[in-house]
Amino acid sequence: MTQIKKICCIGAGYVGGPTCAVIALKCPHIQVTIVDLNQKRIDAWNSDELPIYEPGLDEVVKEARGRNLFFSTDVDKAIAEADLIFVSVNTPTKKSGIGAGFAADLKFLQLATRRIAEVATSPKIVVEKSTVPCRTADSMRTILEANHRPGVTFDILSNPEFLAEGTAISDLFAPDRVLIGSLQTKSGLAACAALAEVYANWVPKERILTVGLWSSELSKLAANAMLAQRISSVNALSAVCEATGANIDEVAYAVGKDTRVGAKFLKASVGFGGSCFQKDILNLVYLAESLHLPEVARYWRAVVEMNEYQKDRFSRKVVETLFNTITGKKIAILGWAFKKDTGDTRESPSISIANHFLEEKARITIYDPKVTEEQIWLDLTDEGTKSLEPIKPHITIQKSAEEACKDAEAIVICTEWDEFKTLDWQKIYDNCPRPAFVFDGRLMLDRAALQKIGFKVITIGTGDGL
Ligand code: NAI
Repeated sequence: MTQIKKICCIGAGYVGGPTCAVIALKCPHIQVTIVDLNQKRIDAWNSDELPIYEPGLDEVVKEARGRNLFFSTDVDKAIAEADLIFVSVNTPTKKSGIGAGFAADLKFLQLATRRIAEVATSPKIVVEKSTVPCRTADSMRTILEANHRPGVTFDILSNPEFLAEGTAISDLFAPDRVLIGSLQTKSGLAACAALAEVYANWVPKERILTVGLWSSELSKLAANAMLAQRISSVNALSAVCEATGANIDEVAYAVGKDTRVGAKFLKASVGFGGSCFQKDILNLVYLAESLHLPEVARYWRAVVEMNEYQKDRFSRKVVETLFNTITGKKIAILGWAFKKDTGDTRESPSISIANHFLEEKARITIYDPKVTEEQIWLDLTDEGTKSLEPIKPHITIQKSAEEACKDAEAIVICTEWDEFKTLDWQKIYDNCPRPAFVFDGRLMLDRAALQKIGFKVITIGTGDGL
């Protein structure tokens, strides 16, 4: 069996960075080089200020970096030296052309694949780590076979990543499962065994699942679609709770106690965000439509529609509660990341909610413990494509929750950062005009305690708001 001695990972992002740092940590006998075209990102990986925030990541990188873990922009060298190459580049939703708004944009993946073909002078195992549409391995094979140097052979594996941001390191240390898909040929199965051997350094063998290539690719889309569906289901019920006086936390607890349902992912919220759920469901919708399965497409699309409804419903609730206008009123948004313990803001519900408040001409203050001011401005201007001038006078970004809440007519919790639970709420109340409203979009605050202080508390999924 091929013994993997050198690994290259193309793409030093939220997935490539933590995943391959953990492989390096757990496999000191393997040299791992993570490469990226983005010099700034690589410089950050080589510094004390890593480009992403993830609990436990600093320690992992510190221990392995310089020993058998390296970060570089020399993509060609790392490809040439590696036995196995993870392709972990971004696969965002297409913005234009066929499938715009639904299909995955595979241009980064294809460029990386082309580069592998052009540079490789020895056999390589090429691993799709990025989330890709079903049968992408076919097109990778075509690119590799059309561009490779004489005598060089490739095996393609699918090894989707199931880590969740915010818990990436613990997910990688103890994954529920590692999934590896391969062609069921002799060399495909041998490549699969070689990669399984890498994971077996720390993952129990029964958690390493080996399946066919297409099942592996589809499983990743299916897993994200099912997870997001749980959130949309509970969020749909949260609206019913508000209308009936039921309490979504109690309902979710009662439902989740059924072992056929389970307790995880049944927390109502302002809606899901992150770079994956929406993108991957839309990708599944596109796949279903391409396969002439309109009912299937409609079914999964509803999960995304429910999420949009939830974000919109929450923003409207703020406006309605503040006597139908927030024009000129100061509103504090606590939390900008799409969930706690990450600095990632991609598709964060906070962005939609802030945009809604901007349309209503509110004055907005924003605080997040891990998101940089620069990133918040980028999000508000759609990555710099919209002008900053019209919105700048309406927004202030603060360095503490207390500062953001000062003089605010409403405080809106958008991310469930633990520190929001232990704020000095009495002091905050003392610095707010009356009536002082708190909108808990994450069901995380002690509602009774806040009410005792004097706040009017509106909790998502809880009837009888005031
Ligand atoms: P990211 O955007 O953080 O990182 C991708 C990196 O690839 C970027 O730094 C980019 O500069 C680099 N890159 C693009 N083309 C390149 C090329 N040709 N050569 C070298 N570097 C190149 O993306 P992220 O979040 O790490 O996602 C990567 C993939 O993993 C996506 O397909 C995503 O769907 C999937 N995924 C993401 C998860 C997440 O929680 N973020 C979880 C599981 C899967």
